[in-house]
Amino acid sequence: MLIHQMQIQATGAPEVLQWVAADLPAPSPGEVRLRHRAIGVNFIDVYQRRGAYPIPLPATLGFEAAGVVEALGAGVEGFSVGQRVGYVDGPMGAYSEARNHPADRLVPLPDTLADDEAAALLFKGLTAHMLVRRVWRAERGPWVLVHAAAGGVGLLLTRWLAKEGARVIGVVGSPGKVEAVQAEGAEAVLVVPRGGSYEGLGPEVRRLTGGAGVGTVFDSVGKDSFTASLDSLAPFGLLASYGGASGPVPPVDTAELGRRGSLALQRPSIFHHIADPSLLRTAAAELFQALAQDKLRPHIHARMPLREAAEAHALLESRATRGAVVLLP
Ligand SMILES: NC(=O)c1ccc[n+]([C@@H]2O[C@H](COP(=O)([O-])OP(=O)(O)OC[C@H]3O[C@@H](n4cnc5c(N)ncnc54)[C@H](OP(=O)(O)O)[C@@H]3O)[C@@H](O)[C@H]2O)c1
Repeated sequence: MLIHQMQIQATGAPEVLQWVAADLPAPSPGEVRLRHRAIGVNFIDVYQRRGAYPIPLPATLGFEAAGVVEALGAGVEGFSVGQRVGYVDGPMGAYSEARNHPADRLVPLPDTLADDEAAALLFKGLTAHMLVRRVWRAERGPWVLVHAAAGGVGLLLTRWLAKEGARVIGVVGSPGKVEAVQAEGAEAVLVVPRGGSYEGLGPEVRRLTGGAGVGTVFDSVGKDSFTASLDSLAPFGLLASYGGASGPVPPVDTAELGRRGSLALQRPSIFHHIADPSLLRTAAAELFQALAQDKLRPHIHARMPLREAAEAHALLESRATRGAVVLLP
């Protein structure tokens, strides 16, 4: 069957994403063929496109989509043609009109969630689930610091933490994002100007927390924010470093963690937290339950045609987005 997809032949700027025709074979045993309805754009796609996370080329990027089951491979049980499903991990290749995907990596979608909402919510929401339910411990203290708080993950994480009783301090890169983060329940929002230094952040966080610092920092910015994150932590605090939008975190001197008050450092990855199909099913069920309880809600900054994936990447990299960017095939 002839389909179109956005492929990269080489790593580089957004323009390496090219619209190509491809042949989609019948699904192999254990796979289903999906007709995509909406595709999630995630920062990991940007790292891979740039070459920061090496992948074999040529490649079709993308880990996340919502779609409809079109055909079942041999041995597939529990799914039916016409069913709405989504997925959040490999094999990569979501930037495509249709594809084959392993049935045991699919998540049936609730009727309450539209296709574009699912593409905005699954990958980023399961990341928030990992951070709130598997990484965060309320015993570390109520104050938490969330970097890139108006981002795709950031808005979901801010709301979920606030709903669980955390006192959230959000960090954003421009004043226009403050209101969106406040609307998700952040008690304070700090603006670190673009190209500006994170140096003042730690002292400001200490001032807001009566000198104590926060129990947990969720840091997806990486290189630029890492030291400020350490500066913001109370003794025994945890730095959950889960991304590097500004670049990778430089090598860490573990003695520094000791000197600063027996700090803990963790580098959680969603791919480990949902590696087993039963972990994926449990995490998805908990995500949908939290959604029904209004502990998080999807935010779509922009819907763009799949063919404009290069523009979508440029938009995400521009730091102008509040919430998710979704591609429509
Ligand atoms: N570990 C995991 O399993 C996992 C899973 C999913 C996502 N992540 C990570 O979570 C983060 C958020 O992902 P997302 O897809 O939701 O993206 P996003 O947060 O919507 O976009 C990235 C944000 O990072 C901030 N940022 C700071 N410095 C930046 C720079 N130099 N260049 C670009 N952005 C910069 C920007 O917000 P401001 O301008 O407001 O600072 C930007 O909006 C990424 O770091 C991603 O790698 C990790």
